[in-house]
Formats: sequence, C-alpha cells, structure tokens
Amino acid sequence: MGFGNVGKAFLRLLISKETEIRRRYDVRWRLTGVATRRNGWLADPDGLNPLAILNGRWPAQHHSFQAGNAREWLEHAKADVFFEASSLNVHTGQPAIDHIKTALDLGAHAISVNKGPIVHALSELTALAREKGKKFLYEATVMDGVPIFSMFQLGLPATELRGFCGVLNSTTNVVLTEIEKGRSFEEGVRRAQAIGVAESDPSADLDGWDAAVKVAALAIVLMNVPLRLDQVRRTGIRELCEEKIRSVRTSGMRYKLVCRAERRGDGVDCSAQPELLLASDPLANLEGTSSAVRFDLDVFGFSLVEHNPGIEATGYGLLADFLRAVSG
Ligand SMILES: NC(=O)c1ccc[n+]([C@@H]2O[C@H](COP(=O)([O-])OP(=O)(O)OC[C@H]3O[C@@H](n4cnc5c(N)ncnc54)[C@H](OP(=O)(O)O)[C@@H]3O)[C@@H](O)[C@H]2O)c1
Repeated sequence: MGFGNVGKAFLRLLISKETEIRRRYDVRWRLTGVATRRNGWLADPDGLNPLAILNGRWPAQHHSFQAGNAREWLEHAKADVFFEASSLNVHTGQPAIDHIKTALDLGAHAISVNKGPIVHALSELTALAREKGKKFLYEATVMDGVPIFSMFQLGLPATELRGFCGVLNSTTNVVLTEIEKGRSFEEGVRRAQAIGVAESDPSADLDGWDAAVKVAALAIVLMNVPLRLDQVRRTGIRELCEEKIRSVRTSGMRYKLVCRAERRGDGVDCSAQPELLLASDPLANLEGTSSAVRFDLDVFGFSLVEHNPGIEATGYGLLADFLRAVSG
C-alpha cells in the first residue's frame, strides 16, 4: 500500500536480495498487489511483474483486477504479508489504520513504515495482531533500518527508559545543511526530494510534524505512556532565517531540529523544535541525511548514529521486519 520513495526502495531491495533470502531463510516471495492513490488497487494472486511495475509499466486496466477497496484488494491478492507505505496522516493515522486492521483481520502479517498507526492506534493494532496470531511490526518508522524497537524488546530486558534526545528527521537536516552551504531553503527542499527522503508533500517534515510523530512513537512504545500527539511541543524550521543559519555556523554553532522526551512522574515531557547547538554537542555534527539518538536508561546511557543513509535504508527496515514476520 503506497508505492512512492519507500515502496520502490523496498521492492528494489527484495529483488536484489531474492537469492540470499531464499538460500539463508528459505523464504520466497511474490508481489500480488500494489495500491496507490493514482493507480488504484491492482491485484493478481499469480504475481505481478515487479520490474515492470518499478519501471512504471502498470498492467492495462482491462488486463488486471482492480479492487474497489482494501478488503477486496487483499482478498484477491491472497496476501500473506501487507506493507503499509502510504503517506503519513499525522492527525488521524487514517486510512492506514483501517488498512492494517483489514490485513490482520484477513490473516496477513502487517508491516508499517507509516508512523500514523503507531501514534494513533498502537494498542488496538497490537491486540488485533495477537488475537489473529500474526505480527504487527514497524521497525522502519524511526531511523529507517536501525533496529531500535527490536533492540529494546530483545536486547534490553528489565530496563526503564528515562528519556531520549536526537535528530530524527532527515529532510530538515538536509535542508539546514544545504542552507549552511549557501543554498536557499527551496533548493534544500528540492535536494531532500531528489534523494527520496522528503515525501512528495514535504510540509510534514518542514513543520516538525514528522519529528513530533517520531518522538510520540518512541515514547509510546519504549516508555509505555499513553501520549497524544498534541502533547508534543512542536516547532518546524520554516521560521528560521537563512542568514542566521549561516552566521551561527560560521561562529561554530548549528541549528538542528531536536527531538526530546523526558519522564516526569507518570507522564513524559516531549518536544520537537529547532535548537542552537554548540559544535561540541555530538548532535551538531550530523550532516545531510544522518540521524542520531541518545537513550538514557535507568542503568546506563548509549547513543545510535545512522550515517548519511539513502532511501534503501528505509527499505531495509521493511525487509528486516518481513524476514522477522515470516521466518521467525
Ligand atoms: N521517505 C523516507 O525517508 C521515509 C522514512 C521513514 C518513513 N517514511 C514513511 O513512509 C511512508 C511513505 O513515504 P514516501 O517517502 O514513500 O512517500 P511518497 O513518495 O510521497 O509516496 C507515498 C505513496 O503513498 C500513496 N498514497 C498516499 N495516500 C494514499 C491512500 N490514501 N491510499 C493509497 N495510497 C496512498 C501515494 O500514491 P500516489 O503517488 O498515487 O499519490 C504514493 O504511492 C510515509 O508514511 C512516510 O512518513 C518515509
């Protein structure tokens, strides 16, 4: 569901790793459905031609089954695994939530790179997956292929996450880096779109929504608090003046859109807003699409850095979830 930057990157990775996946995990796959807003709900249980679809050669309407809704589409596709990679709706998480519910209901594993369902319906979707004996996974929603959620689940038992801070939105990091180099805000946005990290509508990134949703997703899942998105203080980067961004850089400081969460009593104090960082701050040294996060546990603290990832890093997060779901 959704065949933009991420959907395409994931399919390219599936194709390029097909032999390895078969040899090492004994997993074979067939693409039986693709849906987008403009191309409709295409399904063929015998398999669609992935290379043709990647090259934009969609089967003619009269040669293919076009469903009218998600249920019809998934039923016809006979999907074992459903991938949700459609545009983020920050306010409701829809229609992605309904699509995931339908997929789980029909007995498919559901894998989401879309953060909306995590922030608006995590407990409902997790409960439904458990009831159906299927997996609901969402590793690629934050820091692409870096295994944050699975690391906490598998590698950090009996810890309490007290807080975290990081730079988690690639688009704003690319835009700020480009402005520092002397380019305009618009040129920075075009650069982020050209390398596939900005969605076709980049306003969710520029206005801080994507970063705020990531803070909420991490806090809800890893700190186990019932947080609403409007409880995250949010400011985007549009208000920053280009000249100021360049002049603070010359003086050894940098603006970054910083995500923070800190446990306070029963709740969590959360924000996603531009901060002026000293050069000595590790977050200040992130270039381009790089992102980083520092986690403070009750027993120790540690950081993760993702170095200048391309869109295939997000595709990898989906691939890793896919293998976890079908071979685990
Ligand atoms: N890009 C990244 O680096 C990145 C990283 C992590 C997570 N994500 C998340 O991954 C998702 C996809 O991002 P992207 O960069 O691939 O975006 P994109 O290039 O803008 O593609 C979005 C795709 O979703 C389709 N779509 C939108 N609304 C739909 C609907 N209601 N029903 C069916 N299809 C719909 C679009 O169809 P049309 O083209 O026909 O409009 C398009 O194929 C988003 O939720 C984003 O937040 C992205």
